Amino acid sequence: MDGSALPINLDAKPNDLESFWMPFTWNREFKRNPMLLASAKGMHYRSVDGRDILDGTAGLWCCNAGHRREKIVQAVQQTVEHLDFAPTFQLGHPLPFELASRVLQMLPPGYDHMFFCNSGSEAVDSALKIALAYHRVRGQAERTRLIGRERGYHGTGFGGISVGGIVKNRMFFGPLINGVDHLPHTHDLSRNAFTRGQPEHGAELADELERICTLHDPSTIAAVIVEPVAGSTGVLIPPQGYLQRLRDICDKHGILLIFDEVITGFGRLGTAFATDYFGVKPDLITCAKGLTNGVIPMGGVIAREGIYDAFTEWADNTGNTIELFHGYTYSGHPVAAAAGLATMEVYKEEGLFERCAELAPYWEDAVHSLKGTRHVIDLRNLGLIAGIELESRPGKVGARAYEAFRRCFDKGLLIRVTGDIIALSPPLIVEKGQIDEMFGTLQSVLNDLD
Ligand SMILES: Cc1ncc(COP(=O)(O)O)c(C=O)c1O
Repeated sequence: MDGSALPINLDAKPNDLESFWMPFTWNREFKRNPMLLASAKGMHYRSVDGRDILDGTAGLWCCNAGHRREKIVQAVQQTVEHLDFAPTFQLGHPLPFELASRVLQMLPPGYDHMFFCNSGSEAVDSALKIALAYHRVRGQAERTRLIGRERGYHGTGFGGISVGGIVKNRMFFGPLINGVDHLPHTHDLSRNAFTRGQPEHGAELADELERICTLHDPSTIAAVIVEPVAGSTGVLIPPQGYLQRLRDICDKHGILLIFDEVITGFGRLGTAFATDYFGVKPDLITCAKGLTNGVIPMGGVIAREGIYDAFTEWADNTGNTIELFHGYTYSGHPVAAAAGLATMEVYKEEGLFERCAELAPYWEDAVHSLKGTRHVIDLRNLGLIAGIELESRPGKVGARAYEAFRRCFDKGLLIRVTGDIIALSPPLIVEKGQIDEMFGTLQSVLNDLD
């Protein structure tokens, strides 16, 4: 290949939409009626037919600083020219060390190590494995049970779908990993519909953990994992006091608490992480998405003080050189770590987390301005997140929201839907005028929809 050639196979059949088996997609419909994005900048995508699409979802909850940010693009370009790949098994390079300490500085005191992987799903599997192994290296090998929650989404690895609680994501894939139980979800339209911010009712649902502890005996439980704000199931905001109660019960029984912060990490609630926002400290935190602003795949697990030390102590005592028998070829990949470092710079220089906190009340008013709009049965918000729940068409769950999604796209707005719930999570650089535009478009689309 000469220096000017693109690394693209020019013999590939052009415009063939068939070969790519798309994830979580109605493939047949997409291929009949494709929605293709060609480029992106700031708050907008540009479609292949040249239309600007306002990004109401930060891509897939990941481009928190908006698209194609110069500093991040340059960091990626410069790094790949300098160090394309270097292993992190028994070798290292400076970038992931620097990134880990940058991220830890953003957290409240008490967290001291960060493990890297390539996605939110891998972060969840890594956190579950660290939790199991932590108890084992401390001589509590009988702590093997994992507790998730109904309607939870923790990615698509076997660990994640086992503790997750979205039926369709689980039912096709056999018995999953065993020894898993689930807390009830916290969604309660009868008591909490149209709440601004955290719902008043439902903290007592955390007490179900006590029942589960009694059923299995707490000494058999390794960890509880929840999303502090459940996103992919359709934006479920935790009831006031709920997360603290989970923390208290975990403490009482020596169970690790894992917050899956894949969507709440990096400013989505107006603080670096949801742990700050709620003032509840989990033992392990998973993150991904906003870690690199979505530019290069990367995920991570952040550990509370004492967890890493338990592994080093065990290794010293048992004569093992490796402390944790887990990792990925691309754990701490140089280009991803460079993207992560540049992303942290952008967040800090532009004060984007504070910006999110300042915009949140305006966002809240905009979300609740949809009250009374056709089909809307609930509105939920926190930080720069919104959930807009629609009444389902009889016997056709999801059809109405999917149609809204397509119509919004045609009108130049990207939204995300799950079942009949619309989820919005724009980049944190969104302007007030763009918030007005989003809710204006949405309102007109919903009012025109059957
Ligand atoms: C809370 C949570 N955990 C895990 C994941 C999985 O992340 P990924 O798709 O990067 O594997 C997601 C993705 O949306 C998520 O929202």
